[in-house]
Amino acid sequence: MIGGLHKNKVAAILKITEDLNQIKDIDSLLDRVLLEARRFCRADAGSIYLLEKNRKLRINYVQNDTLIQKESGKKYLYQNHELDINDKSMAGYAAMTKKSLVIDDAYGLDERVPYRFNRSFDETAAYRTRSVLTLPLIASHNRLIGVMQIINSLDARGRAVPFRGEDELVVAYFANHAAGSIEKAKMTREIILRMIGIAELRDPEETGAHVNRVGSYSIEIYSKWAMNHKVDDAEIRRVRDVLRIAAMLHDVGKVAISDILLKKHGPLDDGEYEQMQRHVLFGARLFKNSTSDWDDMAAEIALNHHERWDGSGYPGKVADVFDDRWCPGPGKRGEEIPLFARIVALSDVYDALTSMRAYKESWPEEKVLQYIREQKGRQFDPELVDVFFSIYDVIRAIRGKYADQ
Ligand code: C2E
Ligand code: SIN
Ligand code: SIN
Ligand code: FE
Ligand code: FE
Repeated sequence: MIGGLHKNKVAAILKITEDLNQIKDIDSLLDRVLLEARRFCRADAGSIYLLEKNRKLRINYVQNDTLIQKESGKKYLYQNHELDINDKSMAGYAAMTKKSLVIDDAYGLDERVPYRFNRSFDETAAYRTRSVLTLPLIASHNRLIGVMQIINSLDARGRAVPFRGEDELVVAYFANHAAGSIEKAKMTREIILRMIGIAELRDPEETGAHVNRVGSYSIEIYSKWAMNHKVDDAEIRRVRDVLRIAAMLHDVGKVAISDILLKKHGPLDDGEYEQMQRHVLFGARLFKNSTSDWDDMAAEIALNHHERWDGSGYPGKVADVFDDRWCPGPGKRGEEIPLFARIVALSDVYDALTSMRAYKESWPEEKVLQYIREQKGRQFDPELVDVFFSIYDVIRAIRGKYADQ
């Protein structure tokens, strides 16, 4: 199938497919799959749709070099878009027929084909989609798991041109390898969500939305912080992979907290609040002495996500997280609090305030932003508050994408 290609390219593709098996988080995996597929075809943009339980295709990952270079373009990457599996769209058609489609110009489709190109994304984001390669993602036993779309192959001068014949072959080969890894990573994510759901006594839908938001806010805040600090791209991608999962798990220690407290409507009394505060210790215990890549970061975040920049948070310096004789003491302050915990602290509180909880109503957005501004340098790392506002359009898009049902 790839016989006509240069050996080095084959070796490179095999190396990449091997790497994909190392990546465990679904978003990082989709990110890498799209990036490599696009790199091969020199494509400006791409998206991955995954098949959901309701048999619809939901857009899960979007990359777009043109938009990301624009000041306010990044927010368009957090879309909330569903397609049916039928012949009305290119992605739906590829899913229905399990065949790929190669289109030279999405705006010049042949009258005789059943599918139409939906220009609404282009119109909102001021983008022009031309060449489009659409491939079904097929895992073992011919199971459809989604669709990958690669958009605007670029020539040496950066103009969108049709895809080459070998693009389709290589990307199809690559997509089929990736499909198995994507399926595994999706399962890992589902197991994690179920685990968090059990811990926090939430129903799975609600858990999904809440922890997806905290995970996404955290990696976007981190990425911007890291860019400001000139951290290199490979390191940023590596951290994003573990940070998202670790951030999602920040409250998993609530599994050890009485359901009476977790479900209580209205305020906690002092004794109850002290019990509740122990969720950070229980969380840290769950990740000590285990071996996966994200354990260390998850332990650090679980333990420290309620510390405050000015030292008024908890649990403070804990000699042994397994010691039950903990009592609230002086908090860690400033950079004593690990960076990733400072990031999750901000994401978590933003999410807690903008959402409804058993014990409180959601706050209006303006009040939340006012609070965050006031707490700059008090509850929150001042630099991270600046980062947060500098990407606020992205934060808001994430909130829109993972809205509570
Ligand atoms: P959570 O609901 O995920 O809230 C996370 C954090 O968001 C809180 O950490 C707090 O820093 C912030 N936050 C949430 N709601 C408010 C609010 O109305 N005003 C302000 N200023 N900040 C707010 P905290 O306080 O350490 O609480 C940790 C966890 O303890 C909470 O997680 C929640 O599960 C529980 N909890 C806290 N207060 C209450 C309460 O009054 N009633 C009940 N039933 N649970 C509570
Ligand atoms: C869409 O945005 O509707 C997807 C484009 C397509 O596959 O037709
Ligand atoms: C806003 O208030 O909506 C933007 C946040 C800021 O720049 O202060
Ligand atoms: Fe917490
Ligand atoms: Fe929380």
